[in-house]
Amino acid sequence: MKKTTLITGAGRGIGLEIAKIFASKNENLILIIRKSNQKRIIEKLMKNYNSQVKIFVGDLNNLNFIKKIGETVKYVTTIINNASGENQKYFTDVTEKDLKEMVNVNLIANFILTKIFVKKMINKKIKGNVINIGSQLGKIGAYNRSVYCMAKFGIEGLTKALAMDLGKHGIRVNSVSPTKTIVKKSEIKNSKRLNMIKKKIPLGKFSTTEEIAKIVYFLTTNSAGSITGTSIISDGGWTAGK
Ligand SMILES: NC(=O)c1ccc[n+]([C@@H]2O[C@H](COP(=O)([O-])OP(=O)(O)OC[C@H]3O[C@@H](n4cnc5c(N)ncnc54)[C@H](OP(=O)(O)O)[C@@H]3O)[C@@H](O)[C@H]2O)c1
Repeated sequence: MKKTTLITGAGRGIGLEIAKIFASKNENLILIIRKSNQKRIIEKLMKNYNSQVKIFVGDLNNLNFIKKIGETVKYVTTIINNASGENQKYFTDVTEKDLKEMVNVNLIANFILTKIFVKKMINKKIKGNVINIGSQLGKIGAYNRSVYCMAKFGIEGLTKALAMDLGKHGIRVNSVSPTKTIVKKSEIKNSKRLNMIKKKIPLGKFSTTEEIAKIVYFLTTNSAGSITGTSIISDGGWTAGK
């Protein structure tokens, strides 16, 4: 059975980097993106690899979109729930819309998509992997991050509970939790903010998209065969202490 990896939020940033590493390992890809203009960029990029790539464009807040993917794709061997969003607002300024969007993409869409494809894994006896992209802010709180922390802590709970349920099927479930990772060139302009963040990181550096992608891939290999229900925190020591 050809290894096939499904990645949400694969149109840019960490998700796209994860897509590249799995393509470089000749795995087939199911990529879920939100913007149709990202499709052309990915198709061009994927010409460098020997991977069969299927791209679905849509909003993960739309459950019919998720169900359609489930009806079209026969199976996957790895599910990577990477799509998220950002929210930096003081608690009382968070709107219902902010709350719903963050919870929907990180938890509801993640839960439903995973359930659809885990059922297929179980039916086909695939000893696959589920990898959720969390955050250091799924481990500790932060100012103006109530809704983001809530969603990312939720991801850790889901990871652990699924590892318990799915262990008997040989399906492993883990999370990868980055610190600040530069994903857009425009971010580099805000050096004051970046320096402030860097001061909180004992190693004095951000995560890179390449580091995160390699950790995710490692979790799918035989070397990680006993790792389940846990989180690899790639935070340069941010959460190690004060
Ligand atoms: N970058 C960091 O500093 C950092 C740090 C810690 C953790 N993380 C986590 O790492 C993961 C990747 O982060 P990132 O910085 O590369 O990008 P991001 O801004 O968190 O977005 C990830 C991707 O998710 C997609 N997405 C968001 N909502 C969606 C929806 N409703 N339907 C479909 N797609 C949706 C985005 O699509 P669009 O392209 O259309 O926006 C984007 O491609 C996330 O889970 C994030 O929380 C990132």
